[in-house]
Amino acid sequence: MTDGVRGRLIAVEGIDGCGKSTQARLLADALGAVATFEPGATELGASLRHLLLDPGAAPVSDRAEVLLLLADRAQHLAEVVEPALASGRWVVTDRFSGSTLAYQGAGRELPTDELRRLVDWATGGLVVDLNVLVDVPVEVGIARRFGEGPDRFEGLGTDFQRRVARGFRAQAEQDPPQWLVVDGDRPPGDVAADIVAGVRARLGRA
Ligand code: TYD
Repeated sequence: MTDGVRGRLIAVEGIDGCGKSTQARLLADALGAVATFEPGATELGASLRHLLLDPGAAPVSDRAEVLLLLADRAQHLAEVVEPALASGRWVVTDRFSGSTLAYQGAGRELPTDELRRLVDWATGGLVVDLNVLVDVPVEVGIARRFGEGPDRFEGLGTDFQRRVARGFRAQAEQDPPQWLVVDGDRPPGDVAADIVAGVRARLGRA
């Protein structure tokens, strides 16, 4: 029974290789939440993910990239996130709007105020209840991906990843109530324990 109470939305964010996918799964398990991700969680999204990330796909300009990511988000909200929240379920998403501001804003250096307006339109103004930033040094993220074939973003190099990392930290510094920052450069179980405790302290128990 949900008694008409809306669920909560939590995004797990961070640079490539920070371990956030593992942490998002562990958090969703601990909360009994719906686990989902961006980009690519819907049928349309899977096609967009291929266009956005596969190194062999057609060239994508920076502005087109934003619009494809936001199309993925709009579909993800309509098909997965909104129905779950409306039914009272909590939702943990592996990436959300914080990634757009970090990768396309700080990383691609597109104007943040314009991006915020576009994100706001694509999401109908839905903001997460809490972002969890799995914070690791850029070198750690790069080392953890060693041996994997890089997707398009991972192939952009260390300077790009550094700007993205700064973009995440800047968002967390500008809006502390919206961001739980956890040191991700530790054993996954320790990181997960801090995330679960931090989320429960901020949002109450699911
Ligand atoms: P992700 O699935 O987390 O990567 P991986 O498959 O390596 O776990 O995310 C895919 C990439 O998409 C990632 O490099 C970041 C990028 N991305 C953006 O640039 N902007 C966005 O808004 C989102 C959601 C993802």
